[in-house]
Amino acid sequence: MPKKIGHSIDGIEEYDNPIPRWLMWLFYLTILIAVVYLIVYPGFWRGLSGWSSAKMYEEEVARAEKRYAALRPKGVDVYALINDQKAIEEGRQIFARNCAPCHGAQALGDTGIGPNLADKEWIYGGKPDMIVKTITEGTANGMPSWASQLGAAKIAKVAAFVHSLGGGE
Ligand code: HEC
Repeated sequence: MPKKIGHSIDGIEEYDNPIPRWLMWLFYLTILIAVVYLIVYPGFWRGLSGWSSAKMYEEEVARAEKRYAALRPKGVDVYALINDQKAIEEGRQIFARNCAPCHGAQALGDTGIGPNLADKEWIYGGKPDMIVKTITEGTANGMPSWASQLGAAKIAKVAAFVHSLGGGE
C-alpha cells in the first residue's frame, strides 16, 4: 500500500506515489531530443547539418527563380539596337502603322497632336532608355502606353527608329 503524505485537508488525503516510469522516460526522451537538436541545428553553434534559415530562403528563391524565369519577359536592350539598321527599319514600319497618325509620317509633329520626335527638344528625354520608357508607359498628356499592344521587343525597335531620327541623345 503506498504511503500517504500524512496531512488531511477537508478530509482529502494525498498518496506519496513516484511519477510513473513511462512519464519519466518521456521526460528523458525530450531532453535527449533537445540535445540532439542543438547538435544538429544551430542553437549554441552553427550545427552539424549546416542548416540556416537564410540558406533555406536562398535555396527557395533560387528554385522559384529557375521555375519562373521562363515566364518573365526577357529584357530587350535598346542600346544594342540603336546602330542596328535592320531593327531601325522594322521600327520605321512599326512607327508608320502606329505612331504616324499623331506624330506625322516623318515624325515632325506636323499633325498638331504629338510633338516632333526628330528634333533635339525632348519633354521626357532623348536617351534610348528614356524613349523606351515614354513609349512603354505613355504620359498623362496624350501619349498612349504601348506596353500591351507592341510588347518590349517592338517598343525597343521603334525607340531605336525614333532615336535615329537625328535628335537622339
Ligand atoms: C494618340 C496620339 C499618339 C500616338 C498614336 C502616339 N503618340 Fe507619342 N505622343 C503623343 C503626345 C500627345 C505626346 C506628348 C505627351 C506629353 O507631352 O506628355 C507624345 C509623346 C511622345 C514621346 C515623347 C517625346 C518627348 O519630347 O519626350 C515619344 C518618344 C513618343 N511620343 C513616341 C511615340 C511612338 C514611338 C508612338 C508609336 C508607337 C507614339 N508615340 C504614338 C501622342 C501620340
